[in-house]
Amino acid sequence: MEAGRETVLMQATLKVYRHDPDAGGKPTFQPYPLELPEDATVLDGLVKIREELDGTLAFRASCNRGFCGECTLRINRGGRLACMTRVASARTKEGEVTVEPIRNVRVLKDLVYDVDQLLWQKIKAVEPWLQPTVSQPEREHVLSDEQLRPVRNAMKCYYCGLCDEGCSVIPFDNTFLGPAALTKAYRFVSDPRDGARAHRLRAIGEPRGMWDCVHCFEADEHCPRGIGPTHRIMDLRDAAVGMGIKSGTRNPQVARHYDSFAASVKASGWLDEGRLALETWGVRRIFDLLPVAWRALRRGKLPTPYRHPKRPGAERISRIFEKVERRSP
Ligand code: SF4
Ligand code: FES
Repeated sequence: MEAGRETVLMQATLKVYRHDPDAGGKPTFQPYPLELPEDATVLDGLVKIREELDGTLAFRASCNRGFCGECTLRINRGGRLACMTRVASARTKEGEVTVEPIRNVRVLKDLVYDVDQLLWQKIKAVEPWLQPTVSQPEREHVLSDEQLRPVRNAMKCYYCGLCDEGCSVIPFDNTFLGPAALTKAYRFVSDPRDGARAHRLRAIGEPRGMWDCVHCFEADEHCPRGIGPTHRIMDLRDAAVGMGIKSGTRNPQVARHYDSFAASVKASGWLDEGRLALETWGVRRIFDLLPVAWRALRRGKLPTPYRHPKRPGAERISRIFEKVERRSP
């Protein structure tokens, strides 16, 4: 409390996820009615519960300043840092705030979850160490500010996991590397001292890597460090395509998708989705897509008979492609 200023108190109920998998039983949301200062954060509320109401409540936090990324939780169904979320702005009309672990993680106890499974295993998979071109450099490798800018940006990551929590792919496939690990990969791909660029891009180009991102930009929305993980994934893709690495060895359809997309826009001025599906998946796999085509047909999203006329101005678009192709190595 500031000197001479009286603390204004407010009422709020924190509905906190409680579960101890070792003890068995089902998860519950335990309501804790609290009286808190009006500027209290959700983390302040959790500390008060543990100190005054229930010493068995488990949660993780460290700096209490938004610096460490330890207190990532789902608050009112959205990923947030508990120490940076004010109860007053989060509570509903009924004065409630729901607090639970983030999605798609193994809960160890209450609000503490398995960060190894969420982050570290995926980060280890992208070989998060510098692999220099020569093992014994003769002198210091000095980089300019310009060269270091992308590296520094990626190094701001403090592994809070909020981007993975917001990711649209992970809820469907938890083996997807995810934006946090791909941001780590970007940190090394963008480092001019690293000699494993092509190897890295090939590795993260395999299934469940960078091509599985659906660029929903949720990761950018969630990142408290302003790193722009989705943009970094797109940078990785650009770097891969720039080096002629359009897909991994186990997902050649990515390169076919890429080429077909460009070819149809170049030819007609817009995307030919029928051609895209056929050229990406081939005649044999296309039959697997028939249920999708049927649903699209019923919703009026598939023109019958199927046709794909040239758009006005298609020639201009085609010339842009030719110009870019002439510039490409
Ligand atoms: S990229 Fe941003 S949101 Fe993702 S783990 Fe790093 S700091 Fe957190
Ligand atoms: S406790 Fe460090 S960011 Fe919240």
